Amino acid sequence: MFETLTAAPPDKILSLSVLYRNDPRPTKIDLGVGVYKDSAGATVIMGAVREAEKRLYDSQKTKTYVGMAGDEGFNKGMLKLVFGEGADLSRMFACQTAGGSGALRTLAELLAKARPDATVWLSDPTWANHAPILKAAGLKTAVYPYFDAATGLVKAEAMLDGLKKAAKGDIVLLHGCCHNPTGANLSIEQWGPVADLLVERELFPFVDLAYQGFGDGLEDDAAPVRLLASKVPEMVVATSCSKNFSVYRDRVGAAILMGKDADSVKIAGSQALATTRVLYSMPPDHAAAAVRIIMEDAGLYADWKTELESMRLRMLNLRTGFAEALRRQSNSARFDFIADHRGMFSRLGITEAQVDRLRDEYGIYMVGDSRFNVAGLKEDQLEDLAKAVVSVL
Ligand code: LMR
Repeated sequence: MFETLTAAPPDKILSLSVLYRNDPRPTKIDLGVGVYKDSAGATVIMGAVREAEKRLYDSQKTKTYVGMAGDEGFNKGMLKLVFGEGADLSRMFACQTAGGSGALRTLAELLAKARPDATVWLSDPTWANHAPILKAAGLKTAVYPYFDAATGLVKAEAMLDGLKKAAKGDIVLLHGCCHNPTGANLSIEQWGPVADLLVERELFPFVDLAYQGFGDGLEDDAAPVRLLASKVPEMVVATSCSKNFSVYRDRVGAAILMGKDADSVKIAGSQALATTRVLYSMPPDHAAAAVRIIMEDAGLYADWKTELESMRLRMLNLRTGFAEALRRQSNSARFDFIADHRGMFSRLGITEAQVDRLRDEYGIYMVGDSRFNVAGLKEDQLEDLAKAVVSVL
């Protein structure tokens, strides 16, 4: 049996963690996988999550199945987080998934059932796992222009022109905030024409919202999704608690559907659950229960928001500090865009050979396309890091 197989290529992002772990140099720096780290380099459990876990431990009496959609309190909380307190949820559906990737795969399977011939349009570039997930569900993919490496900005006009090539009924995958891997995002003013084009051309939005709270704040990061919801008839959103609740390994996210009306979304939701039933039957409970406890307790919710905001502000400071250090070391404005970007990542815009040299000569780890994790930076290493980057140019 297994003789028919050849080895899978190493995952471009996750394989970096193993290389980093095995590097004996004490000065090594991990800017690879998207995990938030504090100034000591630790990925701590957030205070509100720790407290919710304690309450869960004290109150939980059974480990029996929760149900196909997972924790309904969690699902409702996620809808409110995405669409806003007081939003009309009558034509929304959410089910708990195994992380943001579980949500993406669930939604990809659902869309493949609904429209097997549709092409999913992806930004150029996009997260390395998007196309594999969509293709695994049987969907075709194509790309639309997005990132201008020369300016570090989104090519908004070219994006609109590129999307005009999509056929009626095609699906457009959009990063709701904090574009991964570039850190370059549409302004809310630029989202308007995108939403209008989707409506006019009858294109279906598939939003990946894995970093809500890491860009401009919880509400501002949800503004593009809310704008789309006010204009388009239907859409889906894949969301994740990995980053904003720091519950990575416990795997929780949500697959969200917005239908034309309550009846149609009910039918689509039943198909989403039929999909997860054959993928993994039911989602894991632990982190979803902890997130639900936080969302249902005003005090814990406020604590969580405060801690999340301090993480976001720290990333912004690191962006400014790194851009300034690079300006000093390179004597140029080449890297100034880093301070203007938002979210966990930016691309340095150096070659793969230069990325390899940073790893081999300095023990600095980042993805081959020069994507680095802003939250992997440390305040006291910025100057040395900038010096190393400039030395390989
Ligand atoms: C990343 O992009 O680094 C994260 O989303 C982790 C992953 O699964 O790739």
